[in-house]
Amino acid sequence: MITIKTEEEIELMKYAGHINYLTHELIKKNIRPGITTKELDKIAYDFIISQGCTPSFLNYEGYPASICTSINDEIVHGIPSDRALKNGDIISVDIGVIYKGYHSDAARTHAVGTITKEKEELIKYTEQALYEGLKEIKDGAKLGNIGAKIEQFAHRHRLGVVEELVGHGVGTHLHEDPNVPNYGKYGTGITLKAGMTIAVEPMLNLGTKRVYLLDNDWTVVTQDGKPSAHFEHTVLVTKDGYIILTGEGLNG
Ligand code: MF3
Ligand code: CO
Repeated sequence: MITIKTEEEIELMKYAGHINYLTHELIKKNIRPGITTKELDKIAYDFIISQGCTPSFLNYEGYPASICTSINDEIVHGIPSDRALKNGDIISVDIGVIYKGYHSDAARTHAVGTITKEKEELIKYTEQALYEGLKEIKDGAKLGNIGAKIEQFAHRHRLGVVEELVGHGVGTHLHEDPNVPNYGKYGTGITLKAGMTIAVEPMLNLGTKRVYLLDNDWTVVTQDGKPSAHFEHTVLVTKDGYIILTGEGLNG
């Protein structure tokens, strides 16, 4: 079921989105060679709790940490550990925040120290792909336009589009209807309505789109071992477009 959020619900989601943004900023400041992903996880947990919120990923279907930290060929759901970041790595950080029962979900990929030009472009184009997809959003538009645009943009830059994982509705649950794939055809899918809240999250690979699941049953990695990037925002559909709820400022 796809829900339309009330003004009151949107206010709560804006706060959850704002704390998500601030947590991302804090993590970004702490990313450097030598820090472990467990240390990043603790920084995120402590901050989210200090703001009167809860990290939504912790214990989600048994997930054992507050954030996802996916390094290089890890696409999503990398589990924080004693692994230290190294110069030249890229790390995708995915954060979920709950405020008074309302969720926000956002991801970004960062460089660790100095990275190759290839990795730099992967990060830049994946972030751009997210914004290209978002531009399709407004009341009355077809949901499929988002994925169609992302896929087209990714292919123009010769990047693989992960299909096994998709964006989603978000609200009183982390994952709600509808699914928001990062591929598809223009003019297909449900019609977006003002008041819907969705998470759009392209995962793009430098090589093949093919993926596999690690033995820990969480972490999804590229089949060819090449790096992957991930950018995600939670957005509100409006009459004329959209508002990013996990962006800078108190949204709008
Ligand atoms: N942000 C992730 C997504 O929408 C959810 C991660 S849940 C976790 O796919 F439990 F894996 F952390
Ligand atoms: Co998500």
